[in-house]
Amino acid sequence: MTAHERRTKIMMERSGIVLLAVGILSSICVYFGHSWYHTKFLTMLGLGQALGDAIGSFFIIATVFIGQRLVSLAIFDDLDFGLIRSVQKLQSNNDEMKAEISELDQLASTDRLTGAWNRRRLEELVGGEIERLSRYDQALSMLMIDIDHFKSINDRYGHSVGDRVLVELTGVLQSSLRTSDSLTRWGGEEFIVLCPNTTLTTAVILARRLRELIDRSDFAAVGDVKVSIGVAECLGKEEWLEWFCRADNALYRAKANGRNQVQYASETPVRSHAEGGRSDGLVQLTWHGAYECGHGEIDREHQALFSISNDLLNAVFAGRSVEEIGGNIELLILETATHFRNEEAIIRAAGFPYVTNHMDKHRDLLNKAENLKREFEAGTLEIGTLFQFLAFDVVARHMLEEDRSFFSYLVGRDLGDAPRRQISAANR
Ligand SMILES: [Fe+2]
Ligand SMILES: [Fe+2]
Repeated sequence: MTAHERRTKIMMERSGIVLLAVGILSSICVYFGHSWYHTKFLTMLGLGQALGDAIGSFFIIATVFIGQRLVSLAIFDDLDFGLIRSVQKLQSNNDEMKAEISELDQLASTDRLTGAWNRRRLEELVGGEIERLSRYDQALSMLMIDIDHFKSINDRYGHSVGDRVLVELTGVLQSSLRTSDSLTRWGGEEFIVLCPNTTLTTAVILARRLRELIDRSDFAAVGDVKVSIGVAECLGKEEWLEWFCRADNALYRAKANGRNQVQYASETPVRSHAEGGRSDGLVQLTWHGAYECGHGEIDREHQALFSISNDLLNAVFAGRSVEEIGGNIELLILETATHFRNEEAIIRAAGFPYVTNHMDKHRDLLNKAENLKREFEAGTLEIGTLFQFLAFDVVARHMLEEDRSFFSYLVGRDLGDAPRRQISAANR
């Protein structure tokens, strides 16, 4: 440092300290109720009284700031001013770059219209979640949501109204999802909810709540909006595409069965640990090929009821709350009722002569299930008794004994699932 620079630096240091002292003393005067411009400091600083309180206050603050800054600079005897400025500038640039990168990343991962995640982000999330599933054996489920008759909304009201419906629907969904769930706009009017650490049963309960909420919501532009939802739990070692196709097929069934409903893929994942609980060593209902009647829809529903019964059992042994277990029970009864209705229509169409008798058995089972459920909710029935009835009497025994009586009438009558690709956009 040259002699001139050293003298300059010393002068700045002294000036800084003087200015700092002036600022502090002026502030003290103001603090103790003396109007600052009545003090001798005003004269010393050479400012007129006409400047007023606002400018004066600003001046005090600026004075203190400058004083502190000069003093702090003077402390770094061994550092060059230029270097400090360069470092400060670099730091500032770096912060700006970080903010810009974060903003760009957010933009690249977000659907522009709705603000939900986009496909790119979903595929990143899925990779991590499938990895977690295979490493920690945690459950992982997906909801595929599609707006019913969206094309007619666009045709009738125009695309701008259609866009508003998509934005409103995103808001409704996001307000109801759990913090661990993530919402993605897959494309068009189709959304995907990724549900980590969630079994099929819990995902179906969530899907039903979402569907009902949307059904009840009033959409500003069009009034009613309805959705169909397909649900699938990721099976062990399953690839993303296979899992996606199973959810897509479930959505297809929801559309084909009349829309505004939830359908799910029934395959039971092979897992050693239940969601958040334990299942080792517990008695489980195990599905065997020998239980199949050969009719795709009936077999799929029977298998799903096995799966839901196992989830109920796991919930009981994991010590879940009465409310949570109540949700599992409700789902099992609802799905059983739906299955009974479907089965009755199928066996009637197949010409099964004892359909009325079979319907009576269904009705008796459902009535008893509802009565036991009420007793359980009132606290007068143990869960073991209710589970025994639902899982073994309704699901296992009825399906494995009573239902066998119509198996022979279904041979060759299964229409199977039409390939999903045959469904046109207009038909959704
Ligand atoms: Fe059945
Ligand atoms: Fe039956």
